[in-house]
Amino acid sequence: MKRIRKAVIPVAGLGTRFLPATKAQPKEMLPLVDKPLIQYIVEEAVASGIEEIIFVTSSTKRAIEDHFDRAFELEYRLRQKGKKSELDQLQQISNMAKFCYVRQKSPKGLGHAIYTAQPLVGDEPFAVLLGDDIIDAKIPALKQMIAVYQKYGQVVLGCTKVAKSETHKYGIIDPLPVSDRLVKVKRIVEKPRAAQAPSQLAVTGRYVLTPEIFKILAKGRKGAGGEIQLTDALAVYFKNHPGYACVYQGDYYDCGSKLEFIKAIVRFSLKRPEFKKELKKYLKNI
Ligand code: UTP
Repeated sequence: MKRIRKAVIPVAGLGTRFLPATKAQPKEMLPLVDKPLIQYIVEEAVASGIEEIIFVTSSTKRAIEDHFDRAFELEYRLRQKGKKSELDQLQQISNMAKFCYVRQKSPKGLGHAIYTAQPLVGDEPFAVLLGDDIIDAKIPALKQMIAVYQKYGQVVLGCTKVAKSETHKYGIIDPLPVSDRLVKVKRIVEKPRAAQAPSQLAVTGRYVLTPEIFKILAKGRKGAGGEIQLTDALAVYFKNHPGYACVYQGDYYDCGSKLEFIKAIVRFSLKRPEFKKELKKYLKNI
């Protein structure tokens, strides 16, 4: 079985739900406390064993490339000022993995973004992590999923249980239980209302895929919003192929939504010893 070495991170979307903050800066660069969202995602990938990160990017997302590159002038000034820990921190970012970039010329949808990465992925299984889906977990969510892949050698979707009132926001799994945190996927339904949802298991921005998915995406079928959707391609995939969903241990935040992003900021800040006490006091007061 081939090892999962590469991760595709699509970051070419418009980020319209976050306007005006995303007019001139990528949504994925919004900071969660003091680190951009995209750095959490890359750190999760690397901690899961990924060696090569393939960003699907666009002309308005240059800040992401700069973030994962060296910053010579800044490094020079930090060295002059003797700020060693800041310098080490900066250099670590660009040394985390091998970074590659491919442009999605127009935002035709998540499925199209993944298809754009095909020449860099080649003929091997790969991971996909969405640039604004943060999962706070002791064992990285992707690592939990790769363990499932290593056992079964099939596609693995990362899932979490959502409230019935939330199913219309996600791709929802029709599950066949295997064990405590593992189900076989019978089918996947895009954004069903509570009454039509086959379960409350939502796909939340983490995938281990095999190159077969490219054959389906190549057909370029448009779905919701006139976009080429990854969920539609997966729905076709599961008609003919078996696959699994891993109900990872961890807390999920959809940081593309303003309210979820605010919750993530509060949660992550409360975990920081230097802010915890003051912030708790402040939150109680207001
Ligand atoms: P989203 O739908 O959450 O991002 O896609 P968006 O389209 O940027 O945001 P809104 O809905 O307009 O607010 C999930 C991820 O897929 C990328 C996005 O950058 C995001 O990280 N994406 C989406 C692409 O790379 N290309 C696309 O055509 C669409």
